[in-house]
Amino acid sequence: MKTDIILVIGACGQIGIELTVALRERYGRFNVIAADKVATADILLDALDQDALRNVVRNCGVTQIYLLAGTFSTPAEQDIPPGWKLNIQSLLSVLEVAKEQRLDKVFWPSSIAVFGPGSPKYNCPQQTCVEPDTVYGISKRVGEYWCNYYFEQYGVDVRSLRFSGLVACTAPTGYGTTDYAVSIFHQAIEKQHYTCFLNEDTCLPMMYLPDAIRAILELMDAPKEAITIRTSYNLAGMSFAPCDLAAEIKKHIPGFRIDYQPDHREMIAAGWPASIKDEQARKDWGWQPHFDLKGMTADMLAQLTKIKGAYPEQEQMALHDFPDFPNEDHDFTGVFKI
Ligand code: SER
Repeated sequence: MKTDIILVIGACGQIGIELTVALRERYGRFNVIAADKVATADILLDALDQDALRNVVRNCGVTQIYLLAGTFSTPAEQDIPPGWKLNIQSLLSVLEVAKEQRLDKVFWPSSIAVFGPGSPKYNCPQQTCVEPDTVYGISKRVGEYWCNYYFEQYGVDVRSLRFSGLVACTAPTGYGTTDYAVSIFHQAIEKQHYTCFLNEDTCLPMMYLPDAIRAILELMDAPKEAITIRTSYNLAGMSFAPCDLAAEIKKHIPGFRIDYQPDHREMIAAGWPASIKDEQARKDWGWQPHFDLKGMTADMLAQLTKIKGAYPEQEQMALHDFPDFPNEDHDFTGVFKI
């Protein structure tokens, strides 16, 4: 029987850390190669370097790629060319290599940012007006079209999810518009105070990372024939505004205070839907979220308190402190020499 060899590109990022760990539980430690541009990865790989990618795929017998390298909404708005290049060029490289090397499967994350001010604000469905008005949203929409194109033209089995704002205890607080929902937890524990860059009532679709990881695994496990969306699936978890999250945190930390100083990120958030409908994902591969606001808040606070207690000097958990994450003891650089 053929062994699955998985390449995770962007393994040290927001989704990559927990996904790599989950994939290793399933496929085995040495069948999942964590690639990134940082030293804690198994191999150093620039997502834009197609030749290097092709070499890794050939030399290691890679059968599946999870492409997670990319930029978030806020930096993409501030410096357009690099953000565009990273989000689109890396995807095209992966799709080309997947086509040439006949890979079994590819995963690539899209985002609710593909929707824009013309899309329905509430319960935004799969098929609707999709006219993004941010660099990040445009890049994700274009990426969705490329996924569909490579599937239709070349049969590349590429699968994708439109992620909401992701909340993770293991990842560094990021630069996305939705990342207030991560920073707030860190600040609540450290200072019992947070200044939010969105309005108190700006409601956005959100998801706790364990649900997002499970969604990726379930989507990738589904039989090929079950996948009817080859652009990207809407995927709903929960929806809340900063004031809702603050109220929930207050139940655990009664002294917690929040104030609001909306900045340019509020403009980005205002163009996105407040909630998403994901009927197709439910129908095609049985998607069901597990975490709501209450469950996520309780778990985030418990996990972060543990992490911050164990690593008091650090802003967040360092990558190599995450159980089972690639570290100096497992240097793959020589094994998978590019
Ligand atoms: N979390 C992303 C961002 O805010 C949206 O998908 O940039």
